[in-house]
Amino acid sequence: MIQIIYISSARPMVGLADCHDILQTAVANNSKFDVTGLLLFNSKRFLQVLEGPERHVDYLFHKISLDPRHRAVVELNRKQIGEREFGSWAMAFDDGRSPERSELKQRISKLLDRTSPSTRALFETTADLHKSAP
Ligand SMILES: Cc1cc2nc3c(=O)[nH]c(=O)nc-3n(C[C@H](O)[C@H](O)[C@H](O)COP(=O)(O)O)c2cc1C
Repeated sequence: MIQIIYISSARPMVGLADCHDILQTAVANNSKFDVTGLLLFNSKRFLQVLEGPERHVDYLFHKISLDPRHRAVVELNRKQIGEREFGSWAMAFDDGRSPERSELKQRISKLLDRTSPSTRALFETTADLHKSAP
């Protein structure tokens, strides 16, 4: 199995409604492909982890990278994994002003609880990037 982590920038006008559509598609498709992961959205950027059989992850990632709802897709990390770090599908939103921000943070840190230190470090760095994104 492999795991890919990428970031991208949402196109203008992409909002929570689009995210719900994406989530619906992801839930329906990813289980068919035996792919799990995590999708974070902070109203400007996406950060996604995809993990599963290499062929399936590559196929899905290729399809996702062509999606007009985002641009500047950058693969941050790709690694072989023996076990999944994100065993079920999850998605978290952060619109940047929600009062539940700390709740979201807690949720994310819980999701990262069982991940490797390198994955966690990558998330923390990226979360800082998210914060300072213009
Ligand atoms: C940031 C982002 C993440 C996405 N993640 C997934 C995903 O995990 N799984 C998925 O099937 N589609 C995902 N999509 C949607 C795909 O790009 C594409 O629209 C979808 O796979 C098309 O499915 P269909 O061929 O069944 O119509 C994502 C799109 C965006 C913009």
